[in-house]
Amino acid sequence: MAEKKATNVTWHEHKVKREDRERLLKQKGVLLWFTGLSASGKSTIANEVCNRLFKSGKLIYVLDGDNIRHGLNKNLGFSPEDREENIRRISEVGKLFVDAGIITSTAFISPYRKDRDFARELVGKNRFVEIFVKASVETCEKRDSKGLYEKAKMGEIKEFTGISAPYEEPLNPEIILNANRLTINEEVEKVIEYLKDKKVI
Ligand SMILES: Nc1ncnc2c1ncn2[C@@H]1O[C@H](COP(=O)(O)OP(=O)(O)OP(=O)(O)O)[C@@H](O)[C@H]1O
Ligand SMILES: [Mg+2]
Repeated sequence: MAEKKATNVTWHEHKVKREDRERLLKQKGVLLWFTGLSASGKSTIANEVCNRLFKSGKLIYVLDGDNIRHGLNKNLGFSPEDREENIRRISEVGKLFVDAGIITSTAFISPYRKDRDFARELVGKNRFVEIFVKASVETCEKRDSKGLYEKAKMGEIKEFTGISAPYEEPLNPEIILNANRLTINEEVEKVIEYLKDKKVI
């Protein structure tokens, strides 16, 4: 984990708090943490869930793996250390978004259990929803939306999750989406139902 280098820094309390923003927005800031293999459907489902919520008047945002690697995390690769730092930064950004009162989704493979647990601890258990998009390597290979499995099998991509790098399944996620057999629509419904049930929306 990143060491703290800055000294002489003091936390400044601000007058407008998360609760004030949540009252304004009429919603609760939460982090929907989608995790699963590449091509399991994280981005697709997060996108659809957020589209539905936005249409019903909610303020949402999606922090999507590849998009974040274009900017904030463009200096990180796919080694275990870089993957850890990738998730650490996203967890911190996610925490800020939740503090802003926004219903935020993250769509990162996030293969390591300890990194996801770090995010949960940081954001707070009652504001963190781990969503396991559970699809077999075979299913993902068939979808291969970006043609990555093909490249990984040819050895063109090293450290590819599910092929040459590990994926640690969540032990106790809030939601499991069986992406081998559910339709995108059914997966979206399941997430929306959970949010209604927990009175997030
Ligand atoms: N039941 C399903 N759930 C999710 N996606 C599905 C399903 N059936 C087919 N798909 C398709 O599978 C692909 C999933 O790709 P997507 O980019 O969402 O995966 P991802 O998990 O975000 O991968 P990556 O980690 O590489 O970003 C999409 O093209 C989507 O339309
Ligand atoms: Mg994606």
